[in-house]
Amino acid sequence: MMMDPRVTKNLTHGVYLVGTKVGEKRNLMTLAWLMQSSSSPLMISLAVSVRHLTTELLRKSNLFSVSILRPAQKNIAKKCGTISGRTADKTASLALEDGPEGLPILKDAAGWLVCRKTAEVPCGDHIVFMAEVIDSAVQGDDAMVYRS
Ligand SMILES: Cc1cc2nc3c(=O)[nH]c(=O)nc-3n(C[C@H](O)[C@H](O)[C@H](O)COP(=O)(O)O)c2cc1C
Repeated sequence: MMMDPRVTKNLTHGVYLVGTKVGEKRNLMTLAWLMQSSSSPLMISLAVSVRHLTTELLRKSNLFSVSILRPAQKNIAKKCGTISGRTADKTASLALEDGPEGLPILKDAAGWLVCRKTAEVPCGDHIVFMAEVIDSAVQGDDAMVYRS
């Protein structure tokens, strides 16, 4: 059997910002690998590389936020998806609102979710975090769609 790694280019995703907060450290990370994984209760799963600061913060916290990016927010996706919160404060120049416990949420997102972590499962070079959605809002219907 031959595997063609280019096949992942035909997998479609949305683009999101995962917001975390531990102590005084707030961080936002661009994430495409998110899916709804239950409808009742509403649950989502996300795959985060073991190398990212976000993984470290998600492991230390029970709550996180997800902001749903709009097509016009590509620059935000790039910034939060190419710089690590280890070397910069990615929350500094963005218009944010505070979620529960001060979680960062992007103000002008197409919508947002606040999630409570229920499980984390090692998955190759990523960790899949499963979570129940405990609060959410819709602010538009123009979510960004992305293929790698
Ligand atoms: C469009 C886009 C989608 C991304 N999707 C993911 C993803 O699903 N999972 C992941 O671990 N990293 C993903 N990344 C990479 C991280 O966002 C990036 O490495 C980030 O700098 C890590 O930040 P942190 O160290 O502050 O957590 C994506 C980057 C971009 C630009």
